[in-house]
Amino acid sequence: MRVNDCKVIELPRINEPRGNLTFVEACRHVPFDIKRVYYLYDVPGGAERGGHAHKQLEQLIIAMSGSFDVILDDGYEKKRVHLNRSYNGLYVPRMIWRELDNFSSGSVCLVLASNYYDEADYYRDHVDFLLALKASHEHPVS
Ligand code: TYD
Repeated sequence: MRVNDCKVIELPRINEPRGNLTFVEACRHVPFDIKRVYYLYDVPGGAERGGHAHKQLEQLIIAMSGSFDVILDDGYEKKRVHLNRSYNGLYVPRMIWRELDNFSSGSVCLVLASNYYDEADYYRDHVDFLLALKASHEHPVS
């Protein structure tokens, strides 16, 4: 997987004078079945979240309220994506290291995930992540 496989997906929007509505349907607007939803909130200014990669998990990350940045890293290239619209979702496939920072005050980060929580699916050490990429020949450089 490469950073370029991470895509900002524009979700459907029903805009009305009485307010806007956005919806997400599994396997239609996201390329996976949604098994879990979690959200980050009350994130203190200057805090960082993430700092891990997943062996199999796929996710869609949405700035439900406010804004934050997601730093994507495939072991070769890094990219910073700013999320600030509730109708945009950042698709993050498996084996991408991600960090989240620059949370605005009161922001809420919603994550749709392709599987249940499983600590064994995490790489929490960046060196382990790089070694796994190298071992699986997914890493383009030796
Ligand atoms: P973690 O995934 O490290 O948070 P983030 O990447 O969003 O900063 O999870 C933080 C803690 O919460 C960790 O102890 C695992 C736990 N957790 C669950 O129990 N269930 C979940 O669905 C998630 C995402 C985390």
